[in-house]
Amino acid sequence: MFKTEPLKNADKEIFALINKETERQLETIRLIPSENYASTAVIEATGTSLINKYSEGYSGKRYYEGQEFIDQIENLTISRAKELFNTNYHFNIQPYSGSPANLAALLAMCSPGDTIMGLELSHGGHLTHGYKLSITGKIFKSVQYQVNKETGLLNYEDIRKIAVENKPKIIIAGFTAYPRQFDFNEFKKIADEVGAYLMADISHISALVASNIHSSPFGIADIITSTSHKSLRGPRGAFIACKPEFASKVDKAIIPGFQGGPHNNITAAMAVAFKEALQPEFKEYSKQIIKNSKVLSDELIKLGYKLITNGSDNHLILIDMVKSKNISGKTASSALIKTNIECNANTIPFDKRTPFDPSGIRLGTPAITTIGMKESDMRDVALFINETLENYDDNYELEKIKENVIDFMKKFTK
Ligand SMILES: Cc1ncc(COP(=O)(O)O)c(C=O)c1O
Repeated sequence: MFKTEPLKNADKEIFALINKETERQLETIRLIPSENYASTAVIEATGTSLINKYSEGYSGKRYYEGQEFIDQIENLTISRAKELFNTNYHFNIQPYSGSPANLAALLAMCSPGDTIMGLELSHGGHLTHGYKLSITGKIFKSVQYQVNKETGLLNYEDIRKIAVENKPKIIIAGFTAYPRQFDFNEFKKIADEVGAYLMADISHISALVASNIHSSPFGIADIITSTSHKSLRGPRGAFIACKPEFASKVDKAIIPGFQGGPHNNITAAMAVAFKEALQPEFKEYSKQIIKNSKVLSDELIKLGYKLITNGSDNHLILIDMVKSKNISGKTASSALIKTNIECNANTIPFDKRTPFDPSGIRLGTPAITTIGMKESDMRDVALFINETLENYDDNYELEKIKENVIDFMKKFTK
């Protein structure tokens, strides 16, 4: 019999480092909007015998034997996804992560050389929406739309003009750093006018969409991609959903087009996350994400911070640090992590600084909402942020603030 030791005996170094990371996450105010705390059940499903199995192909049609249980797992994951988004769209739950999902989605709908149109990276788009250094910006002809210079908001008439001028094959509606809701209907009108497909990337907002508190692209977009590990609180994976007529193109784009065997452990963990998201509490969770984000925005504004679009109506907040405190985003994020407040430096629209040392920081409320923070806690979070940034170059003060942050976190994680 093949017997193995538990991790704590087999590899003490890795075991200790994993435990340290777990502890760090429990002691840190985690404000990176694309991160979360997955449940014990989701984490447990990722560490199972499913990682031993190859399953190239799809349920009922695989290239390897022994798929009796894997097929059931994949079928269950797909049926839960359909229930969660209340849709008859076709689901492919095999993409390894969000970036491969986006590339496969584009390859399903377009050919190399076709024109694609997405939101510019420094205006809140993702690399895979056609950024020049991403493969999506290299194999396709990429045109990019921007937010309005005065308001920081999407202006659908401006987007329309770019679409009319460039006649893209596909328009991507999605973002990684935009603090407001998207109107998928407006995008659809533009796509229809120019004869383009509409692709929605709901990676950031999938929980809000599933909970019906954000406009949904289901029934509107031709193809939809999402990661499963952000607001949706699943494992690190992704899915593509599409209108049934594109099912075969999408499945072929994943395999044989782009990937080999699916990560079955992730598929199972996704099913667990979808089941959790189908519970009534999840809708309350999603609503609380938005409430927290609004209150945190208001508190930061009261403290004199300059927020892009002057607020937030989703889970995400973008602060112009140069205008707020005359420091760069990187200086701010580096000071914040010293007091156990985790965010990321981020470009802001029309940024004059570089992506590695940009003008902004990006915050989000999905993770702190998972551990139970409410509106009343947002004042404390804003004050910790402000105290840190007021003392950004004073390590002695930062150390003291860190102790208070760790104490504050105990209320939620101990
Ligand atoms: C909108 C959007 N799409 C795609 C991705 C890519 O996901 P991954 O990091 O899993 O490749 C991200 C990641 O941040 C994202 O924000």
